[in-house]
Amino acid sequence: MAGPGFWGLPAGLLLLLLLLAPWALAEGPLVFVAVVFRHGDRAPLASYPTDPHKEATTALWPRGLGQLTGEGVRQQLELGRFLRGRYEDFLSPEYRREEVYVRSTDFDRTLESAQANLAGLFPEAAPGRSEAAWRPIPVHTVPVTEDKLLRFPMRSCPRYHELLREATEAAEYQTALEGWTDFLTRLENYTGLSLVGEPLRRAWKVLDTLMCQQAHGLPLPSWASPNVLRTLAQISALDIGAHVGPPRAAEKAQLTGGILLDAILGNFSRVQRLGLPLKMVMYSAHDSTLLALQGALGLYDGHTPPYAACLGFEFRRRLGDPDEDAGNVTISLFYRNDSTGLPLPLSLPGCPGPCPLGRFRQLTAPARPPAHGVPCHGSREPATPAATVVPLLAGAVAVLAALSMGLGLLAWRPSCLRAWGGPV
Ligand SMILES: *[C@@H]1O[C@H](CO)[C@@H](O)[C@H](O)[C@H]1NC(C)=O
Ligand SMILES: *[C@@H]1O[C@H](CO)[C@@H](O)[C@H](O)[C@H]1NC(C)=O
Ligand SMILES: *[C@@H]1O[C@H](CO)[C@@H](O)[C@H](O)[C@H]1NC(C)=O
Ligand SMILES: *[C@@H]1O[C@H](CO)[C@@H](O)[C@H](O)[C@H]1NC(C)=O
Repeated sequence: MAGPGFWGLPAGLLLLLLLLAPWALAEGPLVFVAVVFRHGDRAPLASYPTDPHKEATTALWPRGLGQLTGEGVRQQLELGRFLRGRYEDFLSPEYRREEVYVRSTDFDRTLESAQANLAGLFPEAAPGRSEAAWRPIPVHTVPVTEDKLLRFPMRSCPRYHELLREATEAAEYQTALEGWTDFLTRLENYTGLSLVGEPLRRAWKVLDTLMCQQAHGLPLPSWASPNVLRTLAQISALDIGAHVGPPRAAEKAQLTGGILLDAILGNFSRVQRLGLPLKMVMYSAHDSTLLALQGALGLYDGHTPPYAACLGFEFRRRLGDPDEDAGNVTISLFYRNDSTGLPLPLSLPGCPGPCPLGRFRQLTAPARPPAHGVPCHGSREPATPAATVVPLLAGAVAVLAALSMGLGLLAWRPSCLRAWGGPV
């Protein structure tokens, strides 16, 4: 009975299996997950003198400026439910402290976001649970000034400021700024806000206020045209690029997002080394955290993460070739920035598809801090008086110098709230 038909089918199947093999490897069992998300929808961080909604602030944002809104709570609940669906077979049905670890920055909106997310992820924390069955889930944090993981290099990091200065002094950056000088002057007139000293940070705050108001259906003043909003967004993107992109993006990452990336890899190594039951770490943070992480992964593409955007790292045991380096594990990345669709699969540049852990480590090594610590010390003396005086004497250039210095010097003040002045 053994005709070609008999043998042809299995041979065809075998070929098909061989062709599909790389994908079969990708579907190895999940062993560890790390997710990093931005908090949900929040109130604007500030108002400005001519803001038509200024008087109504308390009525519009009853919990206060910068606080999570009801919409933000709902977004996180939804994200938590998405995670429950995705990890239904991986996590225990109920929270177990040895399985899941949650850390947040020490801001009301990120702490509340983590709790709302967990209410979506764990049935016993869900809203509407009967009182007897209801259990809250713990969220860990450290004081803002001590947060080395989810916040960026503090103003006490001279090397980062050097790197930032190099970016903001670059010709393309200066040319772009020059093009916006008139715009920023007009913005002062529209808003009644003095931009002197820290023009870009204040411009972002205006953008933030406008975007929050728009998201909540409030009419914007007539000057705040789509064009003006677009220009403000471009200014913001230029600055984000200077913070996480070239020149020397990897070295910047070592002082910012690479620290978190290293922590995630370290969290997994520890689980493997010690055979811990830990399955998931969750980091509740800010758009600036996600942007820095994207910078460290070489995945920043000019889009600012929306509320509740979530970047996930999925570690899977690789089936098939146990001889591969670094323990038979691959990492796949996903980015969920839109709750209406499937999350986007992302690839580390240079490693398409699920990336073998060893290769992932190797490719990201330049963006992660060296083992002996974060090289924060500057390589040269702080700017000499001459270096700062010269551009200030240069007529029209003075404005631009002030703009870029305002950016460089103020961007990381811990007291600042806006993205590149601190987490948002
Ligand atoms: C903006 O400029 C106009 C015309 O120069 C002036 O009348 C107005 O008071 C200015 N507004 C603010 C807030 O400075
Ligand atoms: C993850 O790594 C960070 C940085 O090393 C550490 O602070 C944190 O405790 C780790 N978390 C877990 C759950 O191991
Ligand atoms: C790699 O796979 C082998 C065989 O499946 C297993 O014994 C070993 O524990 C795995 N190593 C790691 C680090 O997971
Ligand atoms: C989500 O991210 C992708 C990749 O950065 C981008 O193309 C897309 O516009 C983003 N969508 C939203 C809704 O932000």
